[in-house]
Amino acid sequence: MKHDEDSSNPSDNRPFTDILEANVSRRKVLVGGLAVAATGFFTPAAATLASTDKSVAAKGKRPLINFTPVSIADGTGPWPSISADYQFDILIPWGQPLDPKGPEFTYPPSAESQAKQIGIGHDGMTYFPIYEGKFKRGGNDKGLLVVNHEFGTNAHVLGKSAPESLEDVRVSQHAHGVSVVKIKKFGNKWQAVRSLKSRRIHVNSPMAFSGPVAGHALLQTPNGNVPLGTVNNCSNGQTPWGTYLTCEENFNGYFGASNRNNTWVATEAQARYGFSEEGFSYGWHRFDRRFDLSDRDYINEENRFGWVVEIDPMDPDHVPVKRTALGRFKHEGIALTVGRGGRVVGYMGDDQRFDYIYKFVSEDNWKLMRARGLSPLDHGKLYVAKFNDDGSGEWLELSIKNPALAAKFSDQAEILVYTRMAADMLGATPMDRPEWTTVAPNGDVYCTLTNNSLRKETNAANPMAPNASGHIIKWHDSEEHTGTSFNWDIFIIAENTHGTEDSFSSPDGLWADPDGRLFIQTDGGQKDGLNNQMLVADTSTGELRRLFTGVTGDEITGITVTPDRRTMFINTQHPGGGDPSRSNFPAKFDGITIPRDSTIIITRKDGGIIGS
Ligand code: FEO
Ligand code: CA
Ligand code: CA
Ligand code: CA
Repeated sequence: MKHDEDSSNPSDNRPFTDILEANVSRRKVLVGGLAVAATGFFTPAAATLASTDKSVAAKGKRPLINFTPVSIADGTGPWPSISADYQFDILIPWGQPLDPKGPEFTYPPSAESQAKQIGIGHDGMTYFPIYEGKFKRGGNDKGLLVVNHEFGTNAHVLGKSAPESLEDVRVSQHAHGVSVVKIKKFGNKWQAVRSLKSRRIHVNSPMAFSGPVAGHALLQTPNGNVPLGTVNNCSNGQTPWGTYLTCEENFNGYFGASNRNNTWVATEAQARYGFSEEGFSYGWHRFDRRFDLSDRDYINEENRFGWVVEIDPMDPDHVPVKRTALGRFKHEGIALTVGRGGRVVGYMGDDQRFDYIYKFVSEDNWKLMRARGLSPLDHGKLYVAKFNDDGSGEWLELSIKNPALAAKFSDQAEILVYTRMAADMLGATPMDRPEWTTVAPNGDVYCTLTNNSLRKETNAANPMAPNASGHIIKWHDSEEHTGTSFNWDIFIIAENTHGTEDSFSSPDGLWADPDGRLFIQTDGGQKDGLNNQMLVADTSTGELRRLFTGVTGDEITGITVTPDRRTMFINTQHPGGGDPSRSNFPAKFDGITIPRDSTIIITRKDGGIIGS
């Protein structure tokens, strides 16, 4: 869809030319406990099922994954399919009022009503349990669902290809952002309920900046306008202190240049971040000067986007904070964990062809920092990953103390605003579109590399050229996530599943559960007419099973569970590509025929753990 997938990385730390066959064939793909050459035609599940069953039987353990998979034949229709052992329901489609008494969905919505309704482009999300009463009950059947609204095309949101007024632009802007909505289970049915905590955050909501770039000249415009809004909210994270992180991905596409004086040309930085005269054809800049790159009053406005934004879901008056220490790039998402010494560590992908994987490590124990009144996300080190061909890797620090960076950038804030350019200079490894990251209980970190049609030369970490279907890489950091070296391996190459019942392409959403399962969601053309899907892998055996398939033209993204893991929430984004002639999902649910992004609630029929 409206993703900016073309590479804007001009640096020549492109695929290494010195790693080729010898290294590729030396690299091993660890699936099913077997080491198999990455270059071979290898079908993980088929090749390993026998050994899996034996090893499980030998240990006398129940297999981790015990459900009947959705067959390819059942995963191609206009309505979702789910394993026969599971069931699903639909929640909060685009346009549903946050307050059940709020404005009903009309198509197209007005700017005023859209600001009080669920946005479009459901993506990353987190369920925050609410415990109430003396016995602190209820967390598994009552909570706040915080949902990112990544994007919606003009054709889908407005029913026309371009806005014709500022009102049209406001509709589009209010459809983006984040929803905080209270949900509650009545019997077996989840519903959105009225709550003072429910709120919408969108492109015109007040924002604060914190960390090294806050107050810097690069965030000031000649107009002096205050920071407003978050946009293209892709994936997400959650902190150990109970807040939500929303990640701004393809922010460049919402800017354009009216270029009335014919003087606007992209600066080096604007080019590296993919800004152009037309952007992604949203046309906001024609009616809202803030998004016009050629408007002299709004110079630097674009530097206010491309950040990770922290939201306190429990406090409806909390102003979201852009945490600048985490760098500015096309943030897909962030997976936070607690590393050695109680330091908080965040892994992040920059989703563009030939862009990088990053890590942030807080300066100190997160609890001590918070006790001192400091945000652990404001003080720490930012690194970019270099994957060596021998299976080792290095985290390269993006610091003004590095003389090479000090020669180009005047202070740490500049490095953070132009993170991509600093990473180019350090020799980071250009990857095949890093999407989600997740940290498994044994400390392994997984990252989806969704695909890269432009790759011409392989390296060990990106061994397919072109990489039509993507792969998943994993690594293990030294010093419990806080060190600067790691060992890595490739977990699975999607192309190797083709021709089997486990077929998938373009892995994107990813979640490692506490038992060693890896949930894999897809966004891109699947084989054999399959719709996009969610599969479950056993990370120790490599076994793979398809749990869910979406509908024509959608992608499956976003994943969160209740504390007991008996309820899972995922999303279908852009069903039918937003086109009612391709899909009316979920019309069967409520009769409205414009396709609407929705949350899907998944439960096991026997009430078991999701994924089992
Ligand atoms: Fe928003 Fe890269 O997916
Ligand atoms: Ca994604
Ligand atoms: Ca994607
Ligand atoms: Ca998407």
